[in-house]
Amino acid sequence: MVKVAVFGYGTVGSGVVEVIEKNKEQVSKKAGEEIEVAYILDLREFPGDPYEAKVVHDVNVILEDPEVKIVCETMGGTTFAYNYTKAALEKGKSVCTSNKEMVAKFGPEMLKLAREHGCNYLFEASVGGGIPIIRPLNDCLTAEKVEAITGILNGTTNYILTKMEREGADFDKVLARAQEKGYAERNPEADVEGYDACRKIAILSSLMMGKNVDFEKIPTEGITKIVPEDFDYAKAAGRTIKLLARAKVIDDNTLEAMVSPVMLDKENPLAMVSMVFNAILVKGNMLGEAMFYGKGAGKLATASAVVGDVIDCVRHLGKEIPCFWDAEEATILDAGKHSYAYYIRAKKSAKEVLGAVLPGGEIMELPGRDEDLAYFTQPMKQDAFEKVLEGLGDLVLGTIRLG
Ligand code: HSE
Repeated sequence: MVKVAVFGYGTVGSGVVEVIEKNKEQVSKKAGEEIEVAYILDLREFPGDPYEAKVVHDVNVILEDPEVKIVCETMGGTTFAYNYTKAALEKGKSVCTSNKEMVAKFGPEMLKLAREHGCNYLFEASVGGGIPIIRPLNDCLTAEKVEAITGILNGTTNYILTKMEREGADFDKVLARAQEKGYAERNPEADVEGYDACRKIAILSSLMMGKNVDFEKIPTEGITKIVPEDFDYAKAAGRTIKLLARAKVIDDNTLEAMVSPVMLDKENPLAMVSMVFNAILVKGNMLGEAMFYGKGAGKLATASAVVGDVIDCVRHLGKEIPCFWDAEEATILDAGKHSYAYYIRAKKSAKEVLGAVLPGGEIMELPGRDEDLAYFTQPMKQDAFEKVLEGLGDLVLGTIRLG
């Protein structure tokens, strides 16, 4: 019997308990030992909850119980989560987490602590919810030199963009409706500004590089400036708009990474990923491309990934599960040096000047629209593009990178 504690009895934490209880036989069989949730740590009381008796408020009860070998950290945030994760690892208890803030910010530190104390720090649920992606990168694709990872890593923004495309609706209206239905957070900033996707691509890039990728250095743009008109032009051009998190290895030390909306060719496999679904396209030097697709969020999907990690920890009690992510920092290429082709939405009066300052591009005009047009540029360096934009001033109504 292996005893497990759950830190944080919120959506994912209660899902972890549910998965372990509902799939008890399966989980224990796969782990090779019976797994029991011994404690649930939370500040709150849960009167009437079937696991009420397991709730404790003092972390030390768990830390001091030598029978607890594994902790599921599903608290979120980094204040308490940092202290409690550290304390658990120092006691030799493995930690399985869904907390992407913790992993993105303290991944190498926690992995080192785990190694030093003969336990493991696993984080399958921190990226892509229930989609297996961390273990494939660490295990299945170890023969590969992974060269690039591109993902739709945020369900909220993918839902909003899908609805904008299908209904021709404004960002604000779709967001408000998504909030009413509980699909978007009350404070949606982390999702709509791309910060959530940024942390997730930083985690994946760190595993790709084997070095630490500082999420704060990844250029990040959200979806708040996308308007329904952009979808009209995208549709006419055989494209759609997605918030992509992209990372490409330049050399052993250098990474090109960015989170931004991309006007994507409909032929791209990521173009068909809609609503709250996530997908991650991994490019290996031998494999070519492989895509991982599924539910990137949600109570049971995310909890299932946490419990998968718990099973792995039980199978490897006292043994290290390799994870190649050193504390050494990878260099992130300056955004100005990235090269992209761009879509520009501009006032009609910009028609002549666009061709003159950005030669080789293509104009698109839609029937019945007098107020704007679109221009699709040739690939160019971002800093050169920004200089041209400055010169165009308020003739430009919006821009999106092409992909
Ligand atoms: N807010 C996240 C999303 C939840 O919308 O994808 C999963 O990390």
